[in-house]
Amino acid sequence: MVENKENSIVSGKSQGIEEEQTEFSLRPQTLKEYLGQNRVKKELAVYIEAAKKRDEALDHVLLYGPPGLGKTTLAFVIANELGVNLKSTSGPAIEKAGDLVALLTDLDPGDILFIDEIHRLAKPIEEVLYSAMEDYYVDIVIGEGQTTHAVHVPLPPFTLVGATTLAGQLSAPLRDRFGIVEHLQYYSISELEKIISRSSSVFKIEIAAQAAHELARRSRGTPRVANRLLRRVRDFAQVKGEQIISFTTTTNSLKQLQVDDEGLNQTDRKILRVMIENYHGGPVGIRTLAANTGEDVETIQSLYEPYLLQQGFLLMTPRGRVVTDKAYLQLGLPIPNE
Ligand SMILES: Nc1ncnc2c1ncn2[C@@H]1O[C@H](COP(=O)(O)OP(=O)(O)O)[C@@H](O)[C@H]1O
Ligand SMILES: [Mg+2]
Repeated sequence: MVENKENSIVSGKSQGIEEEQTEFSLRPQTLKEYLGQNRVKKELAVYIEAAKKRDEALDHVLLYGPPGLGKTTLAFVIANELGVNLKSTSGPAIEKAGDLVALLTDLDPGDILFIDEIHRLAKPIEEVLYSAMEDYYVDIVIGEGQTTHAVHVPLPPFTLVGATTLAGQLSAPLRDRFGIVEHLQYYSISELEKIISRSSSVFKIEIAAQAAHELARRSRGTPRVANRLLRRVRDFAQVKGEQIISFTTTTNSLKQLQVDDEGLNQTDRKILRVMIENYHGGPVGIRTLAANTGEDVETIQSLYEPYLLQQGFLLMTPRGRVVTDKAYLQLGLPIPNE
């Protein structure tokens, strides 16, 4: 139980309708409102302006990075800045090639088709995308037996925006068809402070500067986590009858939520602990790690590992992932002397 709660705190997936609605209301609409990711924004601003000047569809865009960093948000921002419609789907949701063709033929010139989790697209469907992306047409086979015939379907010029947490799992032919590839990075503490302050004004709540800083510091560089922690801390403050969320309430709530002083949650710590206690600190293969922690491989690869690597708790060696001294210190375990 506790574990599920824990997971939901850092997980990239939206949790139910309530969160989807708040996420929707928290979503920035324009590049200007979209905080952080400055390099990405600067580049996109140029490409968007150029496409508008030429009155052409923007080149296809691939957005990749860990869950909760703003890929979906950015896709909508791009559509808004271009002044076009966006149709949204996801890799696992497209079951038949016909589903994809229906989506594509329904687009107006310049529109965006957003495919989330694009690395999970079935191969035959991915192949339909090749000609659609490159030359704006699809060839579909209709009929059965003797009456089978291929139909050439021209498409309006459109922009595919793909999002993925695991860019490495994208096939080369698909990856190569994206003219614009943007890697979203973890946010800095000061960027997260701004996001928290923006969210608290949307929620109409006040939070002490020191409390906002602490939340930002412990949000794993991730806006979704920052917003989620803010909502939970708001609950604790409300129950205490606090008008302004205080630093003390913030740290107490985080303790209750088992988010430690580095922003690691119970699963992060479990991963490190398994590596240390069962495998002498590594190297450990991803499948072994998944089996020993009860997490699936993809979740470890896309959510937990990137942050642990970025923060220097893990190192990637040619023989696999190993823990660093920092991991021993964080768990309060003695560093082996070799
Ligand atoms: N750059 C940003 N500025 C402000 N808020 C952001 C930003 N990026 C993400 N968010 C917030 O984080 C939440 C999760 O972002 P989302 O786009 O759904 O992430 P992803 O698609 O990468 O998993 C959004 O609801 C939004 O409120
Ligand atoms: Mg998303």
